[in-house]
Amino acid sequence: MSTYSLGSQDPELARLELQAEFLDGPTRLLLAQSGIAAGMRVLDLGSGLGHVSRAVGDLVGLGGEVVGLDADARMVAAARERTTEPHVHFVQGDVATWTDDDPFDAVVGRLILFHLPDPATALRHHLAGIRPGGRIVALDYDIGAIRCDPAEPLSTRLGALVLAAFRAVGADPTIGAHLQDIVASAGAEAVTGLGIAPYLPLGSPTGPAMLAGVVRSLAPAMVGHGLVTLEQLDLDTLERRISEALEASGSVLVPPNLVGAWGRRP
Ligand SMILES: C[S@@+](CC[C@H](N)C(=O)[O-])C[C@H]1O[C@@H](n2cnc3c(N)ncnc32)[C@H](O)[C@@H]1O
Repeated sequence: MSTYSLGSQDPELARLELQAEFLDGPTRLLLAQSGIAAGMRVLDLGSGLGHVSRAVGDLVGLGGEVVGLDADARMVAAARERTTEPHVHFVQGDVATWTDDDPFDAVVGRLILFHLPDPATALRHHLAGIRPGGRIVALDYDIGAIRCDPAEPLSTRLGALVLAAFRAVGADPTIGAHLQDIVASAGAEAVTGLGIAPYLPLGSPTGPAMLAGVVRSLAPAMVGHGLVTLEQLDLDTLERRISEALEASGSVLVPPNLVGAWGRRP
């Protein structure tokens, strides 16, 4: 069963689109660095709208194959609609239990372990479906790296609320800091990794849009856990207020790091 706390309603799909555009460059760099290469058969865990599956599809080429796996039927349908590559497919299933008859050369997953109650066990399950010597590649956030510089009160408070809300729903928003250890404890060897962030210029609309978007998707959890009220959030004006507050204090929003950790099946 999906444990995804942000849902699959239209605003969350729009947020995932914006986030995927923002993370496209770092994701492709990390995937290439991790050893995903032409001809591989690759499983993408928690494929969402299919952005990572398609990026992997570019790396493996038409001689390879990508299977995107997601528990949410709406995500699977949306990923299929957005994908024309004949070697990139999507299936519905739970990453905790799904298996395939044929082995994979690699398993990747972006922003999925973050949401799982036991990420190492999920990875261990998929390590068994990789051929010996094949690769396991985890990409996830270290949201602890988010800040604004110089510090500005509204964005600082919202950043802390986002961390608290993810923790309240059982997600691990700083999992990136521990990703190599999780991949190693799943049984992979020769584990290594790298974390990068797409920095933003002063006045960029991207930071406020992303921060307001994740607050919007987490608002039910924030309110439900008594962290804040809807009146305090005032979601309809939030993005504009973040932009104005950053501009007034000459602050840039520093995004979270996208961390990659990878190793191989013994
Ligand atoms: C934050 S989205 C990331 C989507 C995509 N990997 C990306 O980086 O753009 C997390 C995705 O994982 C899926 N998901 C969450 N828990 C899952 C589970 N237990 N099994 C399969 N998919 C799951 C959600 O439905 C959602 O599409």
